[in-house]
Amino acid sequence: MASRGQFSSRTGFILAAAGSAVGLGNIWGFPTNAAENGGGAFVLMYFILAFCLAYPVLMAELIIGRHAQANMVTALGSLSNSRFSKTIGHLSGIFGVIAASLILSFYSIVAGWMIAYMIEPLLSSLGLTETANWLITSGTTRNILFCAIFMAVTTLLISLGVEQGIERWSTRLMPTLLAIMLGLIVYVLLQPGAMEGLRLFLVPDFSQITQPTLILSALGQAFFSLSLGVGTMLIYGSYMQKTENLPKTGAIVTLVDTSIAFLAGLLILPAMFVARRNGIDIHSADGSLIAGPDLIFQVLPSLFDSMGEIGLLVGFMFFSLMVIAALTSSISMLEVPVAFTIEKTGFGRKPLSLAVSLIIFLVSLVIITNFDRLFGLVISLTTEYMQPLLGLMLCIFAGWVWHRDKLLSELKQGHETIEQSLFWKIWPSYVRFVCPLLIIAIFAQPLFTSG
Ligand code: TRP
Repeated sequence: MASRGQFSSRTGFILAAAGSAVGLGNIWGFPTNAAENGGGAFVLMYFILAFCLAYPVLMAELIIGRHAQANMVTALGSLSNSRFSKTIGHLSGIFGVIAASLILSFYSIVAGWMIAYMIEPLLSSLGLTETANWLITSGTTRNILFCAIFMAVTTLLISLGVEQGIERWSTRLMPTLLAIMLGLIVYVLLQPGAMEGLRLFLVPDFSQITQPTLILSALGQAFFSLSLGVGTMLIYGSYMQKTENLPKTGAIVTLVDTSIAFLAGLLILPAMFVARRNGIDIHSADGSLIAGPDLIFQVLPSLFDSMGEIGLLVGFMFFSLMVIAALTSSISMLEVPVAFTIEKTGFGRKPLSLAVSLIIFLVSLVIITNFDRLFGLVISLTTEYMQPLLGLMLCIFAGWVWHRDKLLSELKQGHETIEQSLFWKIWPSYVRFVCPLLIIAIFAQPLFTSG
């Protein structure tokens, strides 16, 4: 079998894993969730849960991956001693591969819209108004075309491999993302009206903090944002060098992810209130703030329009930011089925990247052509059900199935004195008891609220 890829440095790993974590979930999901759930109160709860719940699960994935040096199916199987737990491990791994592929099938549709909206200002500035309008008018042909373009770029990067594709491009794109974001934040905060949005984002409305919907949204947001449950972080962990200190590296990734989400909040919410100052409606009929697709594809573009010439540049920068964020995430999703098929069949990375993406693209086509029926369904199936349930399985494997001494010896590589650390005192019982119980709570939540 060909030798496995590896990240060449710790920075490379951190940027790749942070690239996976930082995506549309941070820049779009987080700020709008905050707007809907009491602003600062949600932000506070999100930070607590990201570090106290998502970080331990992230560690489970990274440790299992680096130990097993394999995809989730093989990895979970290899931790087990009994035939029963091996079967459960394999099945969980296979569901992980399916979930990652399904998440990519809808993510690439949304990312395709971002590309269309990114190109629109360029065409408008060239006077090609008709084509520009076509780009921002929802339609099946447009959706298929841009989903295909986005998938093609994702496939290209993944076919280049771990170091040349994932690491190299994450290392280039992540600093670019940060630079664009900081530039946009400074610009937006200087516009009239911005401070009102800033206040909503930062000042906690403590009356909302104990609401179950707030806690559960924050939890779901943290899970999606750290790319947990489907084996993305597990496979990235498997490409990490044995000399890395795992708890510290995982903590940095969590910190980068939450910080970028926080920065996105400093951009999106103030931008909404600048839009309101410019006469754009930012509330829906029931009085709540507009969130979801209408925020990104209507409120913000109208804001850019109302800014005149500079709005074309701001709009272009904003949607470039979205495309970059989506791309470093989508490659991490595609790597899950690609690594799995490479390791199972022994075929080359290039043909398998192509074959796997084609299958995922076909699924996207089915979703696009049955949009109203399938789009929301696939999102909810994967992110509300499969991700938490698989996260639960990962905790069970790290906390109950895997032998504690073996886990310790994996952690000792790269961190000799781990036994004395706070991490080792807390984490093992944490993934055994606290994480599974909390995840069961998220997983059970829709059952209680839907009726
Ligand atoms: N975390 C990314 C975001 O915030 C999305 C993502 C990448 C993801 N890989 C994943 C989500 C795996 C779930 C599972 O947009």
